[in-house]
Amino acid sequence: MAELTRLGATGTDELDTLHRDLLESPAHDGRPHVALNFVMTADGRVSFQGRAEIGTRTDRALMFHLRSLADAVMIGAGTLRVDPFAPAVQGRERQPLAIVVSRTCDLPLGNRFFAHPGPRLVATSAGAPATAVAAVRAAGAEVESFGDAEVDLVALLAALRRRGVRFLLCEGGPTLAGQLLAGRLVDELFLTHATLITAEPDARRLFEGSLRPTGTVRLERISLHESADGERYERSRVHYR
Ligand SMILES: NC(=O)c1ccc[n+]([C@@H]2O[C@H](COP(=O)([O-])OP(=O)(O)OC[C@H]3O[C@@H](n4cnc5c(N)ncnc54)[C@H](OP(=O)(O)O)[C@@H]3O)[C@@H](O)[C@H]2O)c1
Repeated sequence: MAELTRLGATGTDELDTLHRDLLESPAHDGRPHVALNFVMTADGRVSFQGRAEIGTRTDRALMFHLRSLADAVMIGAGTLRVDPFAPAVQGRERQPLAIVVSRTCDLPLGNRFFAHPGPRLVATSAGAPATAVAAVRAAGAEVESFGDAEVDLVALLAALRRRGVRFLLCEGGPTLAGQLLAGRLVDELFLTHATLITAEPDARRLFEGSLRPTGTVRLERISLHESADGERYERSRVHYR
């Protein structure tokens, strides 16, 4: 019979003492250290009724904590279209750079992203209509093009590193996450295993889009915590072979 290791609590940790090594994120080949943060239902989906309202307050507290360690926080336009994006960190003098990736630059200008107290960057493509680019600039965000039809994520990450970003937190969504994974650009995954079951047939999975990573991708678990209500918080390193 195979021997199985018992996983379990060996004590408790205060949330704000966790993951502080990210403040000293390791150097990569001309790009920031990249971590994805997602919350997933018990049936393996990351959207519920088209939004990300899946986790508890503790999951949100973990998200706020990770933001407090990040130099920049990034999402895709699909997420901005359904969720407010306000990655401001209370009490921090230097606010994280807030980034939205969008091919079209067709963005909801009333989203809280445009009121972020730190710098705001929309990473777009040369194909974005000039009127949409002008509207985003007028709403107060910097707009930069990183490719002809798509945002070249390698070029974007290199530019972020040159701007001084060492730790980049990506909060989805699944299309952007799928492209980052396919490009072998994800170093870590913070995955909250929620207790909610939604059984929605069309809900989003963690990685979407047509691109697939070459070879195999495996996770090496770094830590696993559980809250009093049974939600689990897993941190893993991503290995590409
Ligand atoms: N559970 C969670 O933790 C979590 C986290 C985040 C999001 N979500 C959920 O995920 C759903 C949204 O999914 P989604 O896949 O649409 O989100 P998404 O990845 O945030 O957005 C996709 C959009 O991002 C832009 N984009 C991504 N990669 C690009 C690239 N390389 N170049 C140019 N543009 C790029 C495109 O914008 P354009 O359309 O402008 O071209 C694309 O349509 C929502 O229901 C949201 O609530 C869940």
